[in-house]
Amino acid sequence: MRTVDIIQKKRDGETLSADEIEFLIQGYTRGEIPDYQMSAWAMAVYFNGMTAKETADLTMAMARSGDQADLSSIPGVKVDKHSTGGVGDTTTLILGPLVAAAGVPVAKMSGRGLGHTGGTIDKLEALPGFEIELTKERFLEQVKSIGVSVIGQSGNMTPADKKLYALRDVTGTVESIPLIASSVMSKKIASGADAIVLDVKTGSGAFMKSLNESIQLAKAMVDIGEQVGRETVAVITNMDEPLGLAIGNALEVREAIDTLKGQGPEDLQELCLVLGAHMIQLGGKAASYDEARALAERMLQEGLGTEKLKQLVAAQGGDAAAVDRLELLPAAEYQIPVLALDDGIVSHIDAESLGITAMMMGAGRATKEDKIDLAVGIVLKKKVGDRVEAGEPLAELHLNRNEPMFTEEMTQQIREAFAFSADEVPRTKLVYAVVTKQGVQMV
Ligand code: URA
Ligand code: CA
Repeated sequence: MRTVDIIQKKRDGETLSADEIEFLIQGYTRGEIPDYQMSAWAMAVYFNGMTAKETADLTMAMARSGDQADLSSIPGVKVDKHSTGGVGDTTTLILGPLVAAAGVPVAKMSGRGLGHTGGTIDKLEALPGFEIELTKERFLEQVKSIGVSVIGQSGNMTPADKKLYALRDVTGTVESIPLIASSVMSKKIASGADAIVLDVKTGSGAFMKSLNESIQLAKAMVDIGEQVGRETVAVITNMDEPLGLAIGNALEVREAIDTLKGQGPEDLQELCLVLGAHMIQLGGKAASYDEARALAERMLQEGLGTEKLKQLVAAQGGDAAAVDRLELLPAAEYQIPVLALDDGIVSHIDAESLGITAMMMGAGRATKEDKIDLAVGIVLKKKVGDRVEAGEPLAELHLNRNEPMFTEEMTQQIREAFAFSADEVPRTKLVYAVVTKQGVQMV
């Protein structure tokens, strides 16, 4: 087989065989196929697309390119969840304990974050003592005994995706549905998921700006799941404002705990109930979506999700008392309100730009080597649809440095992330559609 023939075939709009895709992906992973050939191929895919079968073959080739987690010793359906591109996305911290409490095993390997705020693993480190490096044996044992473990990703998972994603980033080939779909699904399959729930963000802050494109991406991922025997459900959700109120690591942990206690922001709670219900249903713990939803609600109301979080924290060496005593979490020294300059009704909040501001404040990493300040971040005081009067706080900065020029710059950036309207603004819709193997259901 020759790489150039495979590139030409895709350039001419033909369909690649599983063997050709395997040759390409394994050759690229081993460094035998150079970046320039892989770029040409990615551009051909960008223009000519891939069939559902090719996309599934690409997914499995990438999933096989490195280490794969073996969760088969854990009884039950292991359901994983993934959000495509959220800012300050706290759902994993809530959903893990919530669905584990409902009886669905959660064996989660998470990453550290780059950009915006930290990843789930960084956030968990805000819980004093929490250990994120467990041996594989201890990880599996913990899921078998308490139903949930969250650890840092170790080893060499989906190296093909890492290389290809980095290459796409600099060759104008990120926005290709088969390439995004296979990238996301390969990582979930390599980490051992039997079933997958996807939160596909749509709107200004997301990869897919239009609802139609988001549905196409969701369909492509559900199709892959169908082809490779991992049932997949995708929920299309709004990204026209950040989810919840907190952006920043310890602030989001606090918000996650509040939400598990039924005292969180309404949108975050609703999204977790929707995603949680789909996870519970795929995990076989409810016969219908409505039954699964009722079970998820009960886990919140009866505090069983909170109990499960305490068990998780204690099992991984952390101080479970912090779940009830939030003052034990890292807190920033200064809380500075960002005041509105005019009256108006909030019409849009740029999640991406707030994410960047939080990163500049120290909540995220610009490079892998940066150190995060777990305490700092932003807490929103207003959401889309809220009326604001001049002088009222839009948000609150949580900072560990008292430098007027820096504070002023951050304040300015946060103000600019808000857009206002003189007229009533409808509350943004949270869930637009649900895509399953049965088809697309508009909500
Ligand atoms: N997220 C991924 O993991 N891969 C993509 O290609 C795009 C978004
Ligand atoms: Ca948040």
